[in-house]
Amino acid sequence: MIYIVVGNNSLPKVVLTHASGASAEVYLHGAHVTSWVTAAGEELFFLSRLAEFAPHKPIRGGIPLCWPQFSGQGPLPAHGLVRLEDWELASSETRADGALVATLRLSETPATMALWPHPFTVELMVTLQETALTVAFRATNTGSESFRSQLAFHSYFRIADIHQTAVRGLHEVMYLDAMNEMKPTLENGAEIRFAEETDRVYMDTPDTLQVVDEAKELIINIGKRNLPDAVIWNPWVAKAQRMPDYGDEEYQQMVCAETGRIIDPVVLAPGESWTGSTTFNVCATSG
Ligand code: BG6
Repeated sequence: MIYIVVGNNSLPKVVLTHASGASAEVYLHGAHVTSWVTAAGEELFFLSRLAEFAPHKPIRGGIPLCWPQFSGQGPLPAHGLVRLEDWELASSETRADGALVATLRLSETPATMALWPHPFTVELMVTLQETALTVAFRATNTGSESFRSQLAFHSYFRIADIHQTAVRGLHEVMYLDAMNEMKPTLENGAEIRFAEETDRVYMDTPDTLQVVDEAKELIINIGKRNLPDAVIWNPWVAKAQRMPDYGDEEYQQMVCAETGRIIDPVVLAPGESWTGSTTFNVCATSG
C-alpha cells in the first residue's frame, strides 16, 4: 500500500507499507527518505531528534539527495538544490511480486533557476521489497544547454554503537580526506572503524559495501549502479556540537555511508538523461 499522510510540521510524506510488514517513508520535501523499517520492526535509518522539518531547510537524517552539487564542491549551497525543494508524487504502483514503487518528480523552480539557470526534471523512484529498499535517481536535461552534475545518496544509518560499527568493502581504495585538505590517501584497513571525525570521499569504489552493526548483529549491504564513489562521514564530538539540528551525543548512533557520482560529474546534453541507483538490504551477521 502507498499513501500520503501529514508528517512532521504538516509536511506531506509518502508511506509505503509492504505486505511483509516492512515500511518506508519519503517526504515530498526533498524527496527525502526518512525511514525504512524491516518486517522485524528494526529502523535502519537515523533521523536526528533535532531534525527540522521546515520548507527551506534540509532534514537531518534518512537520505538527503545531493544534486546537482555534492557538499561545498561548487558555487551552489551545500549539497545542491533539490533537497530543499517540494517534489510531487508522480506515480505509485504495487508490482506483481509485491514490491511497492513510488516515483517522485521535480522540475526546475524559480528558486533553482535563480541559483542555477538550467531547466531539468529529476525523478526518485523508491522501491520497497521485503528485505530491500532501492532508490533510483534519474536526471534529464530539459534545457538547451549542457550541464554538469554530481549526485549523492547521503544515507544516514542508525546503528547501536559507533564503537562497534565497521564499514567494509573499501580496502585499498583511494580516498580524498576532507579532514586533511582533501589529500589523496590509500585505505589500508581491511575495514573502517571510527574513533574521530571522519569525512572521506572514496573514489571508484567496488559496487558492494557493507555497514556492520556488531551490537545489533546486523549487516546492511549497499549495492550501487552507475555510482562510482562513496562517502564515509561521522561528525564526532566537536562537529556534532556545532550542528544545530543534531544532538551532541547522536554521533554515537549514526554513520553515513553514501553512494554517489562525485569525482567525475555527469555531463548531460540537452534532452539527455542519466540514472544512478542504490539498493540496501539487511541480513543478520550470523546469517
Ligand atoms: C557529508 C560531507 O557528506 O555531509 C560533510 O562530507 C558534511 O562534510 C555532511 O558536513 C553534512 O552536510 P550538511 O550540509 O547536511 O550539514
